[in-house]
Amino acid sequence: MFLHPSPPLLCHRKRARMTVIRAASLADAAAFQAIYAPYVLESTATLENVPPTVEEMRGRLAPMLDQGYPVLAAERDGRVIGYAYAGPAHKRPAYRPTVENTIYLAQGETRGGVGAALMAELFAAAEAAGFRQMIAVIADAENRASLSFHARQGFEQVAHWRAVAWKFGRWLDVFHYQKTLGGGDRVAPVEDGPACPAGPPTFR
Ligand SMILES: CC(C)(COP(=O)(O)OP(=O)(O)OC[C@H]1O[C@@H](n2cnc3c(N)ncnc32)[C@H](O)[C@@H]1OP(=O)(O)O)[C@@H](O)C(=O)NCCC(=O)NCCS
Repeated sequence: MFLHPSPPLLCHRKRARMTVIRAASLADAAAFQAIYAPYVLESTATLENVPPTVEEMRGRLAPMLDQGYPVLAAERDGRVIGYAYAGPAHKRPAYRPTVENTIYLAQGETRGGVGAALMAELFAAAEAAGFRQMIAVIADAENRASLSFHARQGFEQVAHWRAVAWKFGRWLDVFHYQKTLGGGDRVAPVEDGPACPAGPPTFR
């Protein structure tokens, strides 16, 4: 099982000083949906076109929580201001040691160190659960914030798909970034451990 950070991390920078990074639960689905929906409607940070409902967000989180994938919330003054999770990278079972990350901050909460704090805890939680590689799928060469952010977190670009997506009337490139966790490929993963849930994820 994923062990959430205890005690909760207190971020270092001024704006993020009182921000707590904690393990998320299904009760956070509405907050996550509220953060995510504007990005769907207004940005190319995600290639979805229609925001999920709260119930659909619950349906995305539930299998990850059930199977021990790290799902984190950033909370300040009782309000969720961001979230990150490391979900299955692919439905085929041999991909089980690899996770794909997702991270979104509420609009107006960026550039305060909260993203970096979320990722630090996400790396720690994913490593503790036995995962060996983390993949970030980043759409749009103009999404400098996400590209720079992931590079700053130690990801390396491993793929550049050109003009593979279409949103808001223009072609979009998609970049794959990768970061090795823990021992990487130096040793075999632990079979039947938390990084190897019993069955393939059912949500994608
Ligand atoms: C990407 C995102 C999670 C980054 O979180 P954040 O809290 O704003 O980032 P931080 O303040 O922790 O920044 C950490 C580092 O990332 C880089 N970075 C972050 N935002 C950046 C920006 N807009 N432009 C350039 N570099 C940026 C910088 O290197 C920064 O370090 P610095 O502050 O010392 O310069 C956040 O901007 C976000 O939610 N964006 C919209 C959703 C999104 O694109 N999600 C990713 C989908 S793949």
